[in-house]
Amino acid sequence: MKTILVGFMGTGKTTIGELLAQNLQVPHFDLDQVIVEQTGWTINQLFERFGEKFFRNLEHQLLLDHLNKDGVLSTGGGTPVMNDNLTSLKQSQVPVVLLEASIETIFKRVSNNQTRPLVNQLNFQQLAKLKQQRSSRYYACADLVIATDDLSPTQISAKINHFLKQIKN
Ligand code: S3P
Repeated sequence: MKTILVGFMGTGKTTIGELLAQNLQVPHFDLDQVIVEQTGWTINQLFERFGEKFFRNLEHQLLLDHLNKDGVLSTGGGTPVMNDNLTSLKQSQVPVVLLEASIETIFKRVSNNQTRPLVNQLNFQQLAKLKQQRSSRYYACADLVIATDDLSPTQISAKINHFLKQIKN
């Protein structure tokens, strides 16, 4: 991978991943999307019918399968939270970019979206708590952190591009 995007739900990992991959002219892989394509089930269905553990096992396997491919990988918000995944992300040679956003921005983006099984049951306070609990995991694997609240997708993608060029030289 050229780079891996991590961050809480609603921080723009998919949107930025697509844009960045276009700019770099490499394929974009979205881990959730890969899981949906491979199983034929939506994320909600996977959680409901088979449970979170089943989803997390698939997520782990597919993360490993993708680390050595060329492209940009957008992970799910829970990917770095799982121990094995955090270790794999830290050990890989791939630069990891953390997309940050305020909890207010995140809540606005995710609260009306029914596609995230974990969000459906959480109010603002609970979502903030979950983000806080996960935060150290995200930072533990990040080589670059971008505060996205006041930036456009184009600006965020340009920042990542600049960083990738810098570390290459
Ligand atoms: C999850 C985030 C989701 C998806 C699943 C679980 C999480 O991805 O993987 O609903 O645990 O934070 P997004 O971050 O793309 O919403």
